[in-house]
Amino acid sequence: MTAHSLEVRRLRKEYGSAIAVNDVTLKVPGGQFLTLLGPSGSGKTTILMTIAGFSTPTAGDILLDDAIITPLPPEKRNFGMVFQGYALFPHLDVAHNVAFPLRVRGITGAEAEAKVSHALDLVQLGHLKDRLPRQLSGGQQQRVALARALVFDPAVLLLDEPLSALDKKLRADLQWELKAIHERVGTTFIYVTHDQEEALSMSDRIAILNDGQIAQLGSPTELYEAPATRFVADFLGKSNFIEGRTVRQDGSDLVYQAGGGEFRQANSTGSGGEPILVALRPEKIDVRNEPPTDGLNTIEGRLSSWNYYGTNFQLRVATDALGDVLVNQPAFKSPIEPQQDASVWLSWEPDASVVVKPD
Ligand SMILES: Nc1ncnc2c1ncn2[C@@H]1O[C@H](COP(=O)(O)OP(=O)(O)OP(=O)(O)O)[C@@H](O)[C@H]1O
Ligand SMILES: [Mg+2]
Repeated sequence: MTAHSLEVRRLRKEYGSAIAVNDVTLKVPGGQFLTLLGPSGSGKTTILMTIAGFSTPTAGDILLDDAIITPLPPEKRNFGMVFQGYALFPHLDVAHNVAFPLRVRGITGAEAEAKVSHALDLVQLGHLKDRLPRQLSGGQQQRVALARALVFDPAVLLLDEPLSALDKKLRADLQWELKAIHERVGTTFIYVTHDQEEALSMSDRIAILNDGQIAQLGSPTELYEAPATRFVADFLGKSNFIEGRTVRQDGSDLVYQAGGGEFRQANSTGSGGEPILVALRPEKIDVRNEPPTDGLNTIEGRLSSWNYYGTNFQLRVATDALGDVLVNQPAFKSPIEPQQDASVWLSWEPDASVVVKPD
Protein backbone atom coordinates (compact mmCIF):
# COMPACT_ATOMS: atom_id res chain seq x y z
CA MET A 1 0.00 0.00 0.00
CA THR A 2 1.34 3.43 -0.83
CA ALA A 3 0.76 6.25 1.62
CA HIS A 4 -0.52 9.59 0.37
CA SER A 5 0.68 13.07 1.23
CA LEU A 6 -1.82 15.75 2.18
CA GLU A 7 -1.25 19.47 1.99
CA VAL A 8 -3.23 22.41 3.31
CA ARG A 9 -2.21 25.56 1.45
CA ARG A 10 -3.00 29.08 2.67
CA LEU A 11 -6.32 27.91 4.05
CA ARG A 12 -8.76 30.52 5.26
CA LYS A 13 -12.29 30.04 6.59
CA GLU A 14 -14.57 32.88 7.59
CA TYR A 15 -18.01 32.69 9.18
CA GLY A 16 -19.46 36.16 8.59
CA SER A 17 -16.96 38.51 10.18
CA ALA A 18 -15.37 35.77 12.31
CA ILE A 19 -12.16 34.13 11.07
CA ALA A 20 -12.07 30.46 12.12
CA VAL A 21 -8.95 29.55 10.11
CA ASN A 22 -6.44 32.24 9.21
CA ASP A 23 -3.91 31.40 6.49
CA VAL A 24 -2.92 27.88 7.56
CA THR A 25 -0.28 26.02 5.52
CA LEU A 26 0.99 22.54 6.38
CA LYS A 27 2.20 19.48 4.55
CA VAL A 28 1.79 15.95 5.86
CA PRO A 29 4.12 13.47 4.15
CA GLY A 30 2.63 10.10 3.25
CA GLY A 31 2.32 7.77 6.24
CA GLN A 32 2.86 10.43 8.87
CA PHE A 33 0.80 10.85 12.05
CA LEU A 34 0.12 14.58 12.32
CA THR A 35 -1.84 16.08 15.19
CA LEU A 36 -3.66 19.40 15.22
CA LEU A 37 -3.50 20.51 18.85
CA GLY A 38 -5.03 23.65 20.27
CA PRO A 39 -7.51 25.12 22.72
CA SER A 40 -11.26 25.08 22.14
CA GLY A 41 -12.24 27.30 19.22
CA SER A 42 -8.73 27.43 17.71
CA GLY A 43 -9.97 26.03 14.36
CA LYS A 44 -9.02 22.33 14.55
CA THR A 45 -12.37 20.86 13.49
CA THR A 46 -12.80 23.50 10.80
CA ILE A 47 -9.46 22.53 9.23
CA LEU A 48 -10.36 18.82 9.40
CA MET A 49 -13.81 19.42 7.87
CA THR A 50 -12.23 21.37 5.04
CA ILE A 51 -9.76 18.54 4.39
CA ALA A 52 -12.71 16.10 4.40
CA GLY A 53 -14.66 18.28 1.96
CA PHE A 54 -17.62 18.97 4.28
CA SER A 55 -16.67 22.63 4.60
CA THR A 56 -15.78 24.92 1.68
CA PRO A 57 -12.78 27.18 2.31
CA THR A 58 -13.10 30.94 1.92
CA ALA A 59 -9.63 30.83 0.35
CA GLY A 60 -6.80 28.35 -0.08
CA ASP A 61 -6.49 24.78 -1.25
CA ILE A 62 -6.30 21.16 -0.16
CA LEU A 63 -3.86 18.95 -2.11
CA LEU A 64 -3.60 15.17 -2.20
CA ASP A 65 -0.28 13.93 -3.59
CA ASP A 66 0.35 17.44 -4.91
CA ALA A 67 -2.95 17.60 -6.86
CA ILE A 68 -5.58 20.18 -5.89
CA ILE A 69 -8.74 18.48 -4.60
CA THR A 70 -10.49 21.54 -3.15
CA PRO A 71 -13.54 21.30 -5.49
CA LEU A 72 -14.01 17.53 -4.96
CA PRO A 73 -17.04 16.42 -2.88
CA PRO A 74 -16.27 14.29 0.23
CA GLU A 75 -17.19 10.94 -1.36
CA LYS A 76 -14.69 11.48 -4.19
CA ARG A 77 -11.83 12.06 -1.75
CA ASN A 78 -11.97 8.57 -0.28
CA PHE A 79 -10.90 9.72 3.20
CA GLY A 80 -11.77 7.76 6.36
CA MET A 81 -13.24 9.64 9.31
CA VAL A 82 -13.60 8.89 13.01
CA PHE A 83 -15.37 11.28 15.38
CA GLN A 84 -15.90 11.61 19.12
CA GLY A 85 -19.31 9.89 19.02
CA TYR A 86 -19.00 6.36 17.66
CA ALA A 87 -21.89 6.86 15.20
CA LEU A 88 -22.27 3.12 14.65
CA PHE A 89 -25.52 1.83 13.16
CA PRO A 90 -27.30 0.47 16.24
CA HIS A 91 -29.27 -2.25 14.38
CA LEU A 92 -26.23 -3.64 12.51
CA ASP A 93 -23.76 -6.06 14.09
CA VAL A 94 -20.04 -5.28 14.16
CA ALA A 95 -19.24 -7.03 10.87
CA HIS A 96 -22.06 -5.26 9.02
CA ASN A 97 -21.11 -1.91 10.50
CA VAL A 98 -17.57 -2.37 9.23
CA ALA A 99 -18.83 -3.65 5.85
CA PHE A 100 -21.03 -0.59 5.31
CA PRO A 101 -18.49 1.63 3.48
CA LEU A 102 -17.73 -1.34 1.19
CA ARG A 103 -21.41 -1.80 0.29
CA VAL A 104 -21.61 1.90 -0.57
CA ARG A 105 -18.67 1.32 -2.93
CA GLY A 106 -20.23 -1.77 -4.49
CA ILE A 107 -17.80 -4.22 -2.91
CA THR A 108 -19.61 -7.38 -1.71
CA GLY A 109 -19.13 -11.13 -1.32
CA ALA A 110 -15.82 -12.79 -0.56
CA GLU A 111 -13.80 -9.63 -1.26
CA ALA A 112 -15.86 -7.66 1.27
CA GLU A 113 -15.62 -10.46 3.82
CA ALA A 114 -11.85 -10.59 3.54
CA LYS A 115 -11.54 -6.82 3.95
CA VAL A 116 -13.88 -6.77 6.96
CA SER A 117 -12.02 -9.54 8.69
CA HIS A 118 -8.68 -7.85 7.99
CA ALA A 119 -9.96 -4.53 9.39
CA LEU A 120 -11.34 -6.25 12.50
CA ASP A 121 -8.02 -8.03 13.02
CA LEU A 122 -6.28 -4.66 12.85
CA VAL A 123 -8.28 -3.42 15.84
CA GLN A 124 -8.27 -6.88 17.47
CA LEU A 125 -12.04 -7.30 17.49
CA GLY A 126 -12.45 -10.31 15.18
CA HIS A 127 -13.98 -12.34 18.01
CA LEU A 128 -16.81 -9.82 18.51
CA LYS A 129 -18.00 -9.52 14.92
CA ASP A 130 -21.54 -10.76 15.64
CA ARG A 131 -22.24 -8.35 18.50
CA LEU A 132 -24.49 -5.32 18.27
CA PRO A 133 -22.99 -1.93 19.20
CA ARG A 134 -24.96 -1.77 22.48
CA GLN A 135 -23.29 -5.04 23.54
CA LEU A 136 -19.85 -3.39 23.35
CA SER A 137 -17.90 -1.13 25.70
CA GLY A 138 -17.14 2.44 24.68
CA GLY A 139 -13.57 1.56 23.79
CA GLN A 140 -14.68 -1.41 21.71
CA GLN A 141 -17.24 0.74 19.88
CA GLN A 142 -14.56 3.26 19.05
CA ARG A 143 -12.37 0.47 17.69
CA VAL A 144 -15.25 -0.68 15.46
CA ALA A 145 -15.57 2.90 14.21
CA LEU A 146 -11.85 2.83 13.46
CA ALA A 147 -12.14 -0.48 11.57
CA ARG A 148 -15.05 0.95 9.58
CA ALA A 149 -12.96 3.99 8.64
CA LEU A 150 -9.99 1.84 7.56
CA VAL A 151 -11.79 -1.01 5.77
CA PHE A 152 -11.81 0.65 2.34
CA ASP A 153 -8.10 1.59 2.43
CA PRO A 154 -8.71 5.34 2.71
CA ALA A 155 -6.14 7.69 1.20
CA VAL A 156 -6.00 9.56 4.51
CA LEU A 157 -7.59 8.91 7.91
CA LEU A 158 -9.08 11.94 9.69
CA LEU A 159 -9.78 11.66 13.42
CA ASP A 160 -11.55 14.35 15.47
CA GLU A 161 -11.11 13.79 19.23
CA PRO A 162 -11.96 10.08 18.88
CA LEU A 163 -10.96 9.25 22.47
CA SER A 164 -12.44 12.20 24.33
CA ALA A 165 -15.62 10.39 25.40
CA LEU A 166 -13.64 7.60 27.08
CA ASP A 167 -12.41 7.49 30.67
CA LYS A 168 -8.77 8.28 31.44
CA LYS A 169 -7.44 4.73 31.68
CA LEU A 170 -9.19 3.51 28.54
CA ARG A 171 -8.01 6.61 26.71
CA ALA A 172 -4.43 5.81 27.68
CA ASP A 173 -4.82 2.18 26.48
CA LEU A 174 -6.27 3.30 23.18
CA GLN A 175 -3.43 5.78 22.66
CA TRP A 176 -1.02 2.84 22.55
CA GLU A 177 -3.44 0.92 20.36
CA LEU A 178 -4.00 3.75 17.87
CA LYS A 179 -0.29 4.31 17.50
CA ALA A 180 0.25 0.59 16.88
CA ILE A 181 -2.59 0.54 14.33
CA HIS A 182 -1.04 3.50 12.56
CA GLU A 183 2.25 1.63 12.34
CA ARG A 184 0.51 -1.49 11.03
CA VAL A 185 -1.54 0.22 8.28
CA GLY A 186 0.95 2.95 7.33
CA THR A 187 -1.88 5.29 6.30
CA THR A 188 -1.51 9.06 6.69
CA PHE A 189 -3.31 10.05 9.93
CA ILE A 190 -4.51 13.58 10.73
CA TYR A 191 -5.62 13.68 14.34
CA VAL A 192 -7.41 16.46 16.19
CA THR A 193 -7.21 16.85 19.96
CA HIS A 194 -7.02 19.45 22.70
CA ASP A 195 -5.29 16.92 24.98
CA GLN A 196 -1.55 17.63 25.07
CA GLU A 197 -0.53 14.22 26.43
CA GLU A 198 -2.41 12.51 23.64
CA ALA A 199 -0.65 14.70 21.09
CA LEU A 200 2.81 14.19 22.62
CA SER A 201 2.51 10.42 22.97
CA MET A 202 1.13 9.50 19.55
CA SER A 203 2.25 12.00 16.93
CA ASP A 204 5.16 12.13 14.51
CA ARG A 205 4.55 15.87 14.29
CA ILE A 206 2.23 18.33 16.00
CA ALA A 207 0.80 21.59 14.68
CA ILE A 208 -0.15 23.82 17.60
CA LEU A 209 -3.06 26.09 16.73
CA ASN A 210 -3.99 29.36 18.34
CA ASP A 211 -6.78 31.58 17.07
CA GLY A 212 -6.98 29.93 13.66
CA GLN A 213 -3.22 30.10 13.05
CA ILE A 214 -0.33 27.67 13.45
CA ALA A 215 1.68 28.83 16.46
CA GLN A 216 4.39 26.19 15.89
CA LEU A 217 4.83 22.93 14.00
CA GLY A 218 7.36 20.27 14.92
CA SER A 219 8.05 16.89 16.48
CA PRO A 220 6.79 16.36 20.06
CA THR A 221 10.31 16.76 21.50
CA GLU A 222 11.05 19.86 19.41
CA LEU A 223 7.90 21.55 20.62
CA TYR A 224 8.39 20.52 24.24
CA GLU A 225 12.12 21.25 24.45
CA ALA A 226 12.21 24.33 22.24
CA PRO A 227 8.86 26.14 22.32
CA ALA A 228 9.09 29.29 20.21
CA THR A 229 6.52 31.36 22.04
CA ARG A 230 5.02 31.86 25.46
CA PHE A 231 1.75 30.39 24.17
CA VAL A 232 3.38 27.13 23.06
CA ALA A 233 5.46 26.81 26.26
CA ASP A 234 2.32 27.33 28.29
CA PHE A 235 -0.09 25.19 26.29
CA LEU A 236 2.20 22.17 25.85
CA GLY A 237 3.19 21.13 29.35
CA LYS A 238 3.77 23.59 32.17
CA SER A 239 6.30 26.40 32.29
CA ASN A 240 7.58 29.05 34.66
CA PHE A 241 8.19 32.35 32.92
CA ILE A 242 10.99 34.72 33.86
CA GLU A 243 10.76 38.27 32.58
CA GLY A 244 14.18 39.84 32.64
CA ARG A 245 16.61 42.21 31.00
CA THR A 246 19.82 41.17 29.28
CA VAL A 247 23.10 42.19 30.94
CA ARG A 248 26.01 40.81 28.91
CA GLN A 249 27.33 37.93 26.85
CA ASP A 250 29.67 35.47 28.57
CA GLY A 251 30.91 32.87 26.11
CA SER A 252 27.85 31.05 24.81
CA ASP A 253 25.82 32.11 27.88
CA LEU A 254 23.65 35.17 27.98
CA VAL A 255 23.59 36.77 31.42
CA TYR A 256 20.30 38.44 32.34
CA GLN A 257 18.77 40.10 35.32
CA ALA A 258 15.37 39.35 36.82
CA GLY A 259 13.85 40.16 40.20
CA GLY A 260 17.13 41.57 41.50
CA GLY A 261 19.14 38.42 40.69
CA GLU A 262 21.46 37.51 37.84
CA PHE A 263 20.86 34.38 35.79
CA ARG A 264 22.44 32.57 32.87
CA GLN A 265 20.83 31.33 29.68
CA ALA A 266 22.91 28.93 27.58
CA ASN A 267 23.25 29.12 23.80
CA SER A 268 21.74 32.55 23.50
CA THR A 269 23.00 35.90 22.33
CA GLY A 270 22.02 39.49 22.96
CA SER A 271 23.38 42.84 23.96
CA GLY A 272 22.74 44.56 27.25
CA GLY A 273 19.50 46.18 28.35
CA GLU A 274 17.00 44.31 26.18
CA PRO A 275 13.86 42.68 27.53
CA ILE A 276 14.01 38.88 27.58
CA LEU A 277 11.42 36.19 28.34
CA VAL A 278 12.68 32.82 29.55
CA ALA A 279 10.60 29.65 29.95
CA LEU A 280 11.68 27.11 32.56
CA ARG A 281 10.05 23.66 32.85
CA PRO A 282 9.14 22.68 36.45
CA GLU A 283 10.93 19.30 36.20
CA LYS A 284 14.21 20.95 35.20
CA ILE A 285 14.55 22.74 38.52
CA ASP A 286 16.55 21.14 41.32
CA VAL A 287 15.27 21.64 44.83
CA ARG A 288 17.36 21.31 48.01
CA ASN A 289 17.13 22.00 51.74
CA GLU A 290 20.43 23.85 51.71
CA PRO A 291 22.13 26.26 49.32
CA PRO A 292 23.94 24.57 46.41
CA THR A 293 27.70 25.12 46.41
CA ASP A 294 28.13 26.49 42.87
CA GLY A 295 25.50 29.21 43.31
CA LEU A 296 24.64 29.39 39.59
CA ASN A 297 21.01 30.20 38.72
CA THR A 298 20.02 29.79 42.35
CA ILE A 299 17.16 31.34 44.27
CA GLU A 300 15.85 30.88 47.76
CA GLY A 301 12.20 30.34 48.58
CA ARG A 302 9.60 28.95 50.90
CA LEU A 303 7.52 25.89 50.17
CA SER A 304 3.95 27.19 50.15
CA SER A 305 2.04 24.10 48.96
CA TRP A 306 2.45 20.79 47.17
CA ASN A 307 0.49 18.02 45.51
CA TYR A 308 1.44 14.35 45.50
CA TYR A 309 0.83 12.42 42.24
CA GLY A 310 2.31 9.03 43.11
CA THR A 311 5.15 9.32 40.62
CA ASN A 312 5.99 12.90 41.49
CA PHE A 313 5.42 15.92 43.71
CA GLN A 314 4.38 19.27 42.36
CA LEU A 315 5.72 21.97 44.60
CA ARG A 316 4.77 25.60 44.75
CA VAL A 317 7.64 27.70 46.01
CA ALA A 318 7.21 31.36 46.95
CA THR A 319 10.37 33.29 46.05
CA ASP A 320 11.29 36.95 46.43
CA ALA A 321 13.19 36.96 43.16
CA LEU A 322 10.71 35.32 40.78
CA GLY A 323 7.39 35.11 42.62
CA ASP A 324 5.65 31.71 42.71
CA VAL A 325 7.73 29.00 41.05
CA LEU A 326 6.30 25.60 40.11
CA VAL A 327 8.69 22.68 40.63
CA ASN A 328 8.18 19.05 39.67
CA GLN A 329 10.16 16.43 41.61
CA PRO A 330 10.09 12.66 41.27
CA ALA A 331 8.58 11.22 44.47
CA PHE A 332 10.95 8.24 44.50
CA LYS A 333 14.28 9.33 45.98
CA SER A 334 13.06 12.90 46.22
CA PRO A 335 15.86 15.12 47.60
CA ILE A 336 13.47 16.82 50.01
CA GLU A 337 10.61 15.82 52.28
CA PRO A 338 7.93 18.46 51.63
CA GLN A 339 7.17 20.51 54.74
CA GLN A 340 4.98 23.56 55.02
CA ASP A 341 6.98 26.82 54.88
CA ALA A 342 10.30 24.96 54.68
CA SER A 343 13.20 26.99 53.30
CA VAL A 344 14.32 25.56 49.98
CA TRP A 345 16.87 26.45 47.33
CA LEU A 346 16.02 26.17 43.68
CA SER A 347 18.63 25.93 40.95
CA TRP A 348 18.81 25.07 37.28
CA GLU A 349 21.41 24.62 34.58
CA PRO A 350 21.82 27.45 32.05
CA ASP A 351 20.68 25.04 29.30
CA ALA A 352 17.57 23.96 31.23
CA SER A 353 15.61 27.04 30.17
CA VAL A 354 14.77 28.51 26.76
CA VAL A 355 14.19 32.01 25.47
CA VAL A 356 10.66 32.42 24.05
CA LYS A 357 8.84 35.17 22.18
CA PRO A 358 6.31 37.01 24.32
CA ASP A 359 3.51 36.22 21.67
N1 LIG B 1 -20.78 26.80 11.41
C1 LIG B 1 -20.18 27.79 12.07
N2 LIG B 1 -20.69 29.04 12.08
C2 LIG B 1 -20.08 30.06 12.72
N3 LIG B 1 -18.94 29.92 13.41
C3 LIG B 1 -18.37 28.70 13.46
C4 LIG B 1 -18.96 27.57 12.79
N4 LIG B 1 -18.16 26.50 13.00
C5 LIG B 1 -17.14 26.93 13.78
N5 LIG B 1 -17.26 28.26 14.04
C6 LIG B 1 -16.30 29.08 14.82
O1 LIG B 1 -15.01 28.91 14.30
C7 LIG B 1 -14.04 28.83 15.34
C8 LIG B 1 -13.26 27.52 15.24
O2 LIG B 1 -14.14 26.45 15.52
P1 LIG B 1 -13.67 24.93 15.51
O3 LIG B 1 -14.88 24.08 15.70
O4 LIG B 1 -12.86 24.69 14.31
O5 LIG B 1 -12.76 24.88 16.80
P2 LIG B 1 -12.04 23.62 17.50
O6 LIG B 1 -10.60 23.99 17.59
O7 LIG B 1 -12.40 22.38 16.82
O8 LIG B 1 -12.64 23.68 18.98
P3 LIG B 1 -13.06 22.46 19.99
O9 LIG B 1 -11.77 22.03 20.67
O10 LIG B 1 -13.97 23.14 20.96
O11 LIG B 1 -13.71 21.39 19.20
C9 LIG B 1 -14.81 28.98 16.64
O12 LIG B 1 -14.72 30.33 17.05
C10 LIG B 1 -16.22 28.62 16.26
O13 LIG B 1 -17.15 29.29 17.08
MG1 LIG C 1 -13.44 20.63 17.43
